[in-house]
Amino acid sequence: MANKAKTAFFCQNCGFESSKWMGKCPTCDQWNTFTEEVIERPAEAAVWKEEKKEKRVHGPVLIDEITAGNTHRIVTADLELNRTLGGGIVPGSLVLIGGEPGIGKSTLLLQLALELKGHKILYVSGEESEQQIKMRAERLNGKNGELFVSTEISIGKLFTQIKQLKPELVVIDSIQTLMSDFVDATAGSIAQIKECAGQLQRYAKESNVPVFIIGHINKEGYIAGPKILEHMVDTVLQFEGDRNYTHRILRTIKNRFGSTSEIGIYKMEGDGLRQVNNPSELLITEKDEPLSGVAVAATMEGLRPMLIEVQALVSPAVYGNPQRTATGFDLRRLNMLLAVLEKRGGFAYGNKDVFLNMAGGLRVEDPAIDLSIACALLSSLTDMALPMNACFAAEIGLSGELRGVARIEQRISEAEKLGFEKIFISKHNMKSLKQQKYQIELKPASKLEEIYKQLFV
Ligand code: TYD
Ligand code: MG
Repeated sequence: MANKAKTAFFCQNCGFESSKWMGKCPTCDQWNTFTEEVIERPAEAAVWKEEKKEKRVHGPVLIDEITAGNTHRIVTADLELNRTLGGGIVPGSLVLIGGEPGIGKSTLLLQLALELKGHKILYVSGEESEQQIKMRAERLNGKNGELFVSTEISIGKLFTQIKQLKPELVVIDSIQTLMSDFVDATAGSIAQIKECAGQLQRYAKESNVPVFIIGHINKEGYIAGPKILEHMVDTVLQFEGDRNYTHRILRTIKNRFGSTSEIGIYKMEGDGLRQVNNPSELLITEKDEPLSGVAVAATMEGLRPMLIEVQALVSPAVYGNPQRTATGFDLRRLNMLLAVLEKRGGFAYGNKDVFLNMAGGLRVEDPAIDLSIACALLSSLTDMALPMNACFAAEIGLSGELRGVARIEQRISEAEKLGFEKIFISKHNMKSLKQQKYQIELKPASKLEEIYKQLFV
């Protein structure tokens, strides 16, 4: 090609530059760390350039004189997406949506494009044909007179289309299918991804048009190589879920315009993703009678209170070594809780298989879930069901003490809203609480032992 860019190879570990690819870096001794990068573009390069803007010399400015401006977010009809983005789409932002193939990324963004009215939108797909996209749109029952579809995979040609169309929102599905002529590598390679993302970043910033990029995650959980893409974008949202379950979680991993502890919850149905604005209903199974091994935790996911069911199964180990399996919960923490139960309560889990599940394949990191797990473990071991009207929120320390947890009022209110009648909490949380304020009965305790006596003896 005539206008090839000049490229070089860089070690992603130490930054060593080389004119050719090397398997092992001579300076830091790491293997397979070299990737190609553009170091000089041909002068006539067709990268994005904003034409109308006058050049101005940009020196230091007084912070008081800077107008925040331009932060008028586009609020979409999707409350879950708005929440994870920190309150809507920020103009000129570059948002990466990562997730495993088949999890629902295309569905999520096509749905967004179909529902967002009043903005000219360009949906670029290198993964599906126009007909396939149309079929998907029909399945989603969506119509949008201002939605354009392109299957262009050359980023240079794409920018030509963009210059003509002047869209107000661009969706790229996916970054792995986009190609720049400047780089002599195949689509999906690190060099291509980096170059294309760099050009999209420049386009977004200069034109103030928000750009959503879909990126497939490989088996190691990285979005296309060693996280390079994550550094180049403003916001990273991860779309996750277990394909055996219908619900999906959109998790904020990085956000220059909001908190990173937010999550959005959806349900994948026959006609697309449905927002789940009240997740607790989804995470607690309907039961007619109490079951042993089941406990409900009042947790927080980000700033959102959520009641979630914890299920434990404790059974005699038949095949020698007892198994310990935790889904959605840290295995080391489970082992720690088992050790506390053994040591402080004298319960023998040593010769038992222990399985632990969070309802719906959710991943929970909130320490307040400890007490519900301990109670589910005790309930399964003793084969005594916990009362169905009770839930739990406390962290457990190494000596079996119950520690207070953050945002206790919100947890209690959520439990009350869902019809629970008792909530077991740490005594330390009680200081800031007044029983009169609630209809739900607050059950404070300072040790796990006290809870055991109330529920199992
Ligand atoms: P898709 O959005 O294509 O995933 P990704 O872009 O992340 O690879 O969706 C994947 C799955 O979702 C697919 O197996 C079919 C299913 N699906 C539904 O269940 N309902 C729907 O309305 C749509 C469009 C897809
Ligand atoms: Mg897709």
